[in-house]
Amino acid sequence: MSQGNEEVGLNFGAVRCDVADFDRMIESGHVSEALELYRGHLLEGFFISDAPEFERWQDGARTRLCETASRAAQALVEKAENGGDLSTAAMWARRAVRLAPHDEAQLRRLLTLLDQQGDRAGALRAYDEFARRLATEFEAEPAAETQSLLGAIRTRATAAAPATPRREPPAILTPRRHTVGRARERAALLASFQSAAAGHGQVVCVAGEPGIGKTTLVEECLAELSAGSGRCQIARGRCSERLAGTAAYLPLLEALQSLLHGVDGEAVGRAMKRTAPTWHVQFAPPSRSAGTLQPDVTAAPAASQARLTLELAAFLEEVCQASPLVLFFDDVHWIDPSTVDLLAYLGSRLASQRLLIVLAYRPAEMLVGKNVFWPMKLDLQTRGVCREIGLEFLTPDEVAQYLALEFPGHRFSAAFPALVHARTEGSPLFMVDLLRYLREHGAIVEVAGAWALSESLPNIERELPESVRSMIERQAGQLAPIDRRLLAVASVQGQEFDSAVVATVLARDPARVEERLEQLERVHALIRPVAQRERPGRLQSVRYRFIHGLYQNAL
Ligand SMILES: Nc1ncnc2c1ncn2[C@@H]1O[C@H](COP(=O)(O)OP(=O)(O)OP(=O)(O)O)[C@@H](O)[C@H]1O
Ligand SMILES: [Mg+2]
Repeated sequence: MSQGNEEVGLNFGAVRCDVADFDRMIESGHVSEALELYRGHLLEGFFISDAPEFERWQDGARTRLCETASRAAQALVEKAENGGDLSTAAMWARRAVRLAPHDEAQLRRLLTLLDQQGDRAGALRAYDEFARRLATEFEAEPAAETQSLLGAIRTRATAAAPATPRREPPAILTPRRHTVGRARERAALLASFQSAAAGHGQVVCVAGEPGIGKTTLVEECLAELSAGSGRCQIARGRCSERLAGTAAYLPLLEALQSLLHGVDGEAVGRAMKRTAPTWHVQFAPPSRSAGTLQPDVTAAPAASQARLTLELAAFLEEVCQASPLVLFFDDVHWIDPSTVDLLAYLGSRLASQRLLIVLAYRPAEMLVGKNVFWPMKLDLQTRGVCREIGLEFLTPDEVAQYLALEFPGHRFSAAFPALVHARTEGSPLFMVDLLRYLREHGAIVEVAGAWALSESLPNIERELPESVRSMIERQAGQLAPIDRRLLAVASVQGQEFDSAVVATVLARDPARVEERLEQLERVHALIRPVAQRERPGRLQSVRYRFIHGLYQNAL
């Protein structure tokens, strides 16, 4: 503090404030450094009740800072674009979209930049995210201009040949964090690869609820395979929630693109041109003559679909002869029917190929949408080429191991790991997010080189990170209003509840309530039955348990 004769104030020489630093850097033209400092909106999550003046100031300051950051990002896009550095321009364009999440002009700029770099899948994903946000928040669709830009990108295949030299595309998820457990599952996945590499192709289904660690597990194994001594090729494709119905073969196109950009890209390209010409044209640079578009593989009529299937099978067979191939499809709960058909055909010829197909999905969401996947899986199982790896929540010991790895030498109280496990039920996603949240909010601090808790545990017990809350809300958003109400009533009873009690409170037919709960268990996997109760002289009741204490709290 500074003190004059008649005033006390803050001594700005002695303290730092990131907001003031941000403003100074913008003023002095150090725009990218300023954006480094902008890590979130001003005082996000901070609220003082009954302080309207403060609220008005906070709103105004937050908007001003956010708009400044957004303009800064746009300026950096322009600078990079003018300098011909498209990938840096795309990076800043992504930032600009995050800072102005409803500004479609920014989105279109990002889409165009990604398209120019040949990252068609990235452009589709960016559109997909934007459209989903718009639908959830405003029940609206992107503007016609944006939709037609997307249409042009989709139809054009990869717009331009990549300006930069070919390099391995980044993994869908680069594991940077520590991971714990999963030894058995990893061994199973690697064993499947070994058997595929020996000429006994397989499909491995990695199944589990949202955030349980499916992508992480597969990516870790793939990283291990890439780093290993044996040669292997890896292709990745991701299914899209928003485009599942409309974008036929999207995950396959993405996977093929990743193969073409991989280390053996040249040879793969030649093989594709020879064995799968219809697919190959999708990836060729666009024709120079204005307005000429490549034929769209996704719009193929039924007859050509058979041709596409045969071509792809022939192509993969050739690629696998060079070295074993792993095809990893993520988020398969959003898979499109055309890809399923194609996978079914590939599955029927797998047994003698050096091909491992890995499919990661959330079983509960698979049941919600159109159910094209299960018959194919059943067929593959009957053929004996399909195995399933189900992921479970982390154990308390694994949570403790994670804490030890993330916060080496920590001095947390002995009760803390158990508390984190209890709060998250061992969901890796919730655990990671809760810890990140506690760290960002200063509840976990580094004091003199050692990690410690700054707050008492009861305080921490009340915290629930926004990301976890929105994840649960997203799942709850898929429920019918009646089911939400039902679970809200159930949650009052506790993490475990009785169907009969819920029926009584809601004054509803117990049999109907039970039916809906069964549905919630089977389709949404939010609850699981723990026991059936005989109630002498009355209807029996089923006792259920929320899969997650967090669901019970949030509903
Ligand atoms: N074994 C693990 N140990 C520690 N953290 C993990 C582990 N597995 C996953 N995580 C973390 O949990 C989070 C969610 O993981 P991941 O994205 O792999 O889940 P997912 O099952 O693929 O989710 P989704 O259904 O949304 O695709 C990530 O932050 C990841 O780092
Ligand atoms: Mg995933």
